[in-house]
Amino acid sequence: MSPPVKSFACNNLQLAQYAIDCFHPEDEILSEIRTRAVQEKLPNIHVGSMDGLHLEILIRAISAKRVIEIGSLAGYSGVCIARALPSDGELHTFELHEKNARVCADSFTHAGVGAKVTIHQGQALEKLADVEHLAPFDAMFIDADKSNYPNYLTWAEKLLRVGGTLIADNTFAWGLVLQATFDTDSQRRDAEGVRTFNHQVAHSSKWRATMLPTGEGLTVAVKVSD
Ligand SMILES: C[S@@+](CC[C@H](N)C(=O)[O-])C[C@H]1O[C@@H](n2cnc3c(N)ncnc32)[C@H](O)[C@@H]1O
Repeated sequence: MSPPVKSFACNNLQLAQYAIDCFHPEDEILSEIRTRAVQEKLPNIHVGSMDGLHLEILIRAISAKRVIEIGSLAGYSGVCIARALPSDGELHTFELHEKNARVCADSFTHAGVGAKVTIHQGQALEKLADVEHLAPFDAMFIDADKSNYPNYLTWAEKLLRVGGTLIADNTFAWGLVLQATFDTDSQRRDAEGVRTFNHQVAHSSKWRATMLPTGEGLTVAVKVSD
């Protein structure tokens, strides 16, 4: 099972444990999702437990009602987001693989948030067209398909409300953002996607953005104008 904190607290395990003991980011329902994912042989690439809590708090802080998530996996981050929504809130989560979509549907049901969540199965960039009529959205969490991060930014620029929040995980790209050469084309595309995304959101007059230095980098941006 993946470590629930990843490299939170600058890799200092004692500090990470202190934060977990104090803030209790992961309850039984979230822990069961990690277990379900192992049983279903899904990859251990859920957000860390503290990142899940960051998501819940950020979504609550803006009183979001309509949220988009790119990359559902087994539903860990989706449950964190859905818990932050009011009873008439909506999370639209996008997942490429049919099996993952089935597993995360189970997770949403077990967590008691199924009524707030719609799972869209397929390539997120194509399937996003299905929800455009519901815009404006209050928040978007991007956690898949690194090479397309700039295209998700373009979508968010059009379809998030002013004051809406864009959150993107893995924005250090596991260190790839610093590299000039790559072992594989896929690494190069991921690095270029994440670097372009960070640069654009940091320099656009439409966004005010920062990066939380979590283990894997969490870019957080607020849309300040249309
Ligand atoms: C890092 S995992 C998401 C983890 C999830 N957000 C969590 O923390 O619980 C990325 C997920 O996105 C899916 N994915 C990858 N490329 C995608 C795409 N182009 N469109 C939609 N989903 C995609 C993968 O199948 C995988 O389940």
